[in-house]
Amino acid sequence: MSNNENMSFWQRFIKSITKANELGHEEDVMLDHDYDGIKELDNVLPPWWLYGFYITIAISVFYYIAIYILGWYGQEDEYKAELKAYQAKVAKYKKEHPELYKTENLVAFTDAQSLAKGKELFATKTCTACHLPDGGGSIGPNLTDDYWILGGGFQNVFNTISKGGRPGKGMVAWEKTISQEDRQLLASYVLSLRGTKPATPKAPEGDLWDGDKKVETNNATEPAEEKPAEE
Ligand code: HEC
Repeated sequence: MSNNENMSFWQRFIKSITKANELGHEEDVMLDHDYDGIKELDNVLPPWWLYGFYITIAISVFYYIAIYILGWYGQEDEYKAELKAYQAKVAKYKKEHPELYKTENLVAFTDAQSLAKGKELFATKTCTACHLPDGGGSIGPNLTDDYWILGGGFQNVFNTISKGGRPGKGMVAWEKTISQEDRQLLASYVLSLRGTKPATPKAPEGDLWDGDKKVETNNATEPAEEKPAEE
């Protein structure tokens, strides 16, 4: 410290922001413990680092007050604005392509994400109450076989879910309470159950269908031993 006067401005500046202990003066800051010959120096925190730390604390207080108390534009507003912009884009696209949402143009979803959503709806919209979670059927018919009372294939299944079954049978018209997109997801999920093995399958009811084509047989409700190969 004695040679302070001989230091250049730059050296003094560096020294003031680091407060580094000079080499050769380690004993001044040496702590008195000793681990197998390893000793520890009690150096001060460098002021440049310490002030940076204080500044981040000050910014956090400023940020908190600005965003959460004064309600300035923050991340959440940014997110909401972006979401709104994208929702508007989707709405615009839907408006420009009405043919995509015409019932006769709808097709089954086959991607895992849509089928997972369909499965969720199948439970939350109470379909499981009459068809069982695995589609094996109880009050309602088995949805896993190739026999359909009201017609197989996406369009027929979608139509049944939308318009309901025969009067008095218990399958209501869901179009009043379930959106078109959700009904499309449900129909897709129902079709994906084809060929799965429910725990307590109800005997087949209705006519044998090969996809969306009815198979002409004399005794349609007889359980089929061999499922017709498809795809
Ligand atoms: C209250 C009981 C009940 C509920 C709840 C119910 N269903 Fe049904 N479902 C039936 C009955 C009964 C039939 C047979 C209708 C008939 O014979 O006309 C049926 C028929 C069907 C069929 C046609 C089966 C065939 O063989 O043609 C599909 C598909 C179907 N339901 C899907 C669903 C979906 C999806 C839901 C949930 C949104 C649902 N059901 C909720 C009772 C129910």
